[in-house]
Amino acid sequence: MKHILTAKQFTVPEINHLMDQANWLRHHGRVAKRHEGVLATLFYEPSTRTRLSFEAAMHRIGGSVISVENANNSSATKGESIEDTVRIVGQYADVIVLRHPEVGIAARAAAVSPVPIINAGDGTGEHPTQALLDIYTVKSHHGRVSGLRYCLVGDMKHGRTIHSLIYLLGLYQDIHITLVTNGKLALPDEVLNFITTKAKISQTESLEQAIREQPDVVYMTRFQRERCQAGNNIQYDFRLTESLMDQLKREAVILHPLPRQQEIPSCLDTDPRCVYFRQAKNGMWMRAALLVEAL
Ligand code: NCD
Repeated sequence: MKHILTAKQFTVPEINHLMDQANWLRHHGRVAKRHEGVLATLFYEPSTRTRLSFEAAMHRIGGSVISVENANNSSATKGESIEDTVRIVGQYADVIVLRHPEVGIAARAAAVSPVPIINAGDGTGEHPTQALLDIYTVKSHHGRVSGLRYCLVGDMKHGRTIHSLIYLLGLYQDIHITLVTNGKLALPDEVLNFITTKAKISQTESLEQAIREQPDVVYMTRFQRERCQAGNNIQYDFRLTESLMDQLKREAVILHPLPRQQEIPSCLDTDPRCVYFRQAKNGMWMRAALLVEAL
């Protein structure tokens, strides 16, 4: 059974295969609609893109969807364990996409699930399918993932998309990553130690300085205030501006897993280097590819 629990489980040939599959599905609309099966989406945390793109992907490949939009309204309120919920939902569905506030919950669910579990975000842990669509977006713009300079910006402590993206970047050659954050929102040691042995890493608190280094990919993220203790007074002023965009090279791309807050003002949306809406669309095709594999 092919669970998707962490970005660490992938190899470059597997990612290439998924990207080819995503491209194929994108261009073969009706023929692609031959995958029977039922997807269950089980979300214990808010979501727009992840849940809807998985559901849209399932419809586009010909399958059907059952969904608990706010799984906190499910039998969880009656004290049912995640294990029991998954054992039951696995009787109805052929694959389960799970989002939950607890780190490691997807692995717990996978241990008892009769069908594949896809981790759609486990608290501050990981978000592997987001990282796959991020890499897919980089590849479709630059033609490669290796040999590029990446600038990752924002809340690295709570940002599960950054954790998973770093695990995938560790698979590629000749990568340079600048981490732009402040001390209170720094990358967990486990992720930092992993990547320091595999890529050239530099760290700064200055987005201006990082932009001056001419990155090929700028990956912005929001401050995850909801994951911080109340009253925790953390400064978060990483914000792209027109003058920073002027300093960036013409071929660079700006990515964001979304939702955004103030870190990318909407006046920049028409800049062709801002590809986050296309990135979200790529997510649907990458997830379609993942579902085809899971089924
Ligand atoms: C991200 C998430 O849920 O981790 N959103 C997403 O899936 N696109 C990022 C976030 O919430 O900031």
